[in-house]
Amino acid sequence: MSADSSEPMAVGIKLGSTRTVIVYPSPDEEGELETIRTFTCLATYEDVLTGEEQVLYGEEAAREYPDRVQFMLRSGLPEDDENAALAKTFFEELLAANDIPEESVAVYAIPTIDNESGLENLASVIEDSAVGGELIRSYPESLCGAIPALENELAAINDIFVAVNMGSTNLEACAYRRGEQLVPVTTGSITGNEIDRRIANYVEEETQGRVNIDQTTAREYKEEHADFDSFEPFTDIIQKPGGGSHEFTIEDSVMNACNEYLDEAVDEVANGFLPELANSYMKVYKLALEKPIVLTGGMACVPGIVEAFETRLSEELQREVTVVSADRPDLSPAQGAHLIASRLAEDL
Ligand SMILES: Nc1ncnc2c1ncn2[C@@H]1O[C@H](COP(=O)(O)OP(=O)(O)OP(=O)(O)O)[C@@H](O)[C@H]1O
Ligand SMILES: [Mg+2]
Repeated sequence: MSADSSEPMAVGIKLGSTRTVIVYPSPDEEGELETIRTFTCLATYEDVLTGEEQVLYGEEAAREYPDRVQFMLRSGLPEDDENAALAKTFFEELLAANDIPEESVAVYAIPTIDNESGLENLASVIEDSAVGGELIRSYPESLCGAIPALENELAAINDIFVAVNMGSTNLEACAYRRGEQLVPVTTGSITGNEIDRRIANYVEEETQGRVNIDQTTAREYKEEHADFDSFEPFTDIIQKPGGGSHEFTIEDSVMNACNEYLDEAVDEVANGFLPELANSYMKVYKLALEKPIVLTGGMACVPGIVEAFETRLSEELQREVTVVSADRPDLSPAQGAHLIASRLAEDL
């Protein structure tokens, strides 16, 4: 940790399509960390007194302006100049609201997506930001996210292991060999967002067409209720357009969508990624499967998913594998990025 106060502040940052996470040392309590976790969105409005454009970001923007809030990294990266500009504004507001010093070491956890222009746009957001004046570095999201999950923490960056990042817009699998990414495989079809879409459809079926929920509500159902160990049916109420309300119970929709997701993710790892790794790097493949496979990303937060992944993957491979994750896989990319930043700050 940065016990030496002359060192610049070490900041770990993940700009995700759903949420942005920043981890940095607490300015108030020595040795403690602050964690910012907020929706990656913004909404603008006109100040009624001055007529000036005002910016709201995060939960406040999503709650108060559902009609025009913009999630500018919706596809995982800023797709065009307009979204890059929105991302810059969002990030600027977020940093300003949280007193993060410009003279700092910033490490970004970034997705492994084969999208050159998107990555360039993200790089411009990062370079133009008011953080990382001392040093800016980027590392793959799943490498950063694995660090807090592994026994040796930062030393694990020099190990060989497999990591699977389970995000809103992508599933990414790769092997790491001393930080080098081998055989990265990314798919946009096995995703948290796809679960939300399916939950919305299944809820309509389960309620015989009486209930239509949007994807935001579906995501809330998933985040609050999905559980591979002990899912409990839950009730919700909708207002009917003609007046009155309708109470309904959800028994199957959430876990059906989650189970499909998990089966598809395990299939992709077992039958897509791992055979490719074995083909290209047989020895690394063998070494990696003797070690825990690390799950990162928000979808790894669902209770019991790590154990269920381990069971299903072991069955699929017909051999015992171990699967682990950090305590908070949604925060772990930013936590790991912060650990890297702390290490880099020591050398400045
Ligand atoms: N506690 C939770 N329980 C269930 N699901 C969760 C939880 N927290 C986050 N998620 C889900 O995880 C996904 C977001 O994961 P993450 O924050 O890793 O994605 P991201 O980095 O923004 O997206 P991507 O890398 O795909 O662009 C969303 O589908 C979200 O609903
Ligand atoms: Mg991500």
